[in-house]
Amino acid sequence: MTTTAITVRVPAKVNVQLAVGAARPDGFHDLANVFLAVGLYDEVTATPSDTLRITAEGHDVDRIPLDRTNLAARAAELLAARHGIEPHVHLHITKDIPVAGGMAGGSADAAGALVACDALWSTGASRDELLEICAELGSDVPFSLVGGAALGRGRGELLTPLTVGGGFHWVFAVADGGLSTPAVYREFDRLTADTDVPAPEAAPALLAALEAGDATALAATLANDLQPAALSLRPALAATLEAGTAAGALAALVSGSGPTTAFLVKDAESAQQVAEALLASGTCRAVRTTDSPAPGATLV
Ligand code: C5P
Repeated sequence: MTTTAITVRVPAKVNVQLAVGAARPDGFHDLANVFLAVGLYDEVTATPSDTLRITAEGHDVDRIPLDRTNLAARAAELLAARHGIEPHVHLHITKDIPVAGGMAGGSADAAGALVACDALWSTGASRDELLEICAELGSDVPFSLVGGAALGRGRGELLTPLTVGGGFHWVFAVADGGLSTPAVYREFDRLTADTDVPAPEAAPALLAALEAGDATALAATLANDLQPAALSLRPALAATLEAGTAAGALAALVSGSGPTTAFLVKDAESAQQVAEALLASGTCRAVRTTDSPAPGATLV
């Protein structure tokens, strides 16, 4: 018997701008979220099974749920329900994206599972249907599907693709443990309780820097409104940001809701130097170097 196996590779992301508005009545926050996919990938392999089963290997897999609360399982269930079939599939996740790190690892696995199940079950879902299911699964999941660079409005799920005029080099410092995204947004609400939070807007200078592929200009415009909240919950991240900047990074910021920190550097050689200095500083658990943009969910 031949066993069909479908493998999908999905990138991590960094938010080069994360502008956060006030909390909405539904508890979510309106965003102007400039996503950039980076070349760290999870892989999701779907094979036939007589039940829905999840297994995982790789970095920190002991910290991801292997039951139906895993976003990849929910992706399979939503697709199956729409097409009136049983969600019977074995999903094997090979993790390389830091877990609970603010790099959309869980969202990547959900997008990967969706594309893999669609191929395995021949459900033939349109791109729009896949994007709709992604948005139902989570605010960052549609971007994991499309990759590249995009502006996310609404809670981040309404995407407009962006042009990127060149490659950008990054170093990521992985912190001990994760940070809960809802907890970071709650801390944002607490920190901004007495202020008038402006409507979130993408910065024209940042979009121009992306389009020009100009790392120096991008460095001057990187901004994450969740950074004060992430630093408030994890004060030790300030030392990591400082260590990377001192080692020659063009700019440093918390990736999404953290606790992974991101360092934009001028080239691959600088990435190596900054990575070594970050490790030597003892302010992070591991470092990764990579570049961007990266393609979205892709069958391999
Ligand atoms: O959409 P997702 O499930 O990834 O969101 C996780 C949590 O992050 C939400 O429950 C909410 O607390 C917070 N969030 C938010 N505003 C957004 C996106 C996420 O408040 N735009």
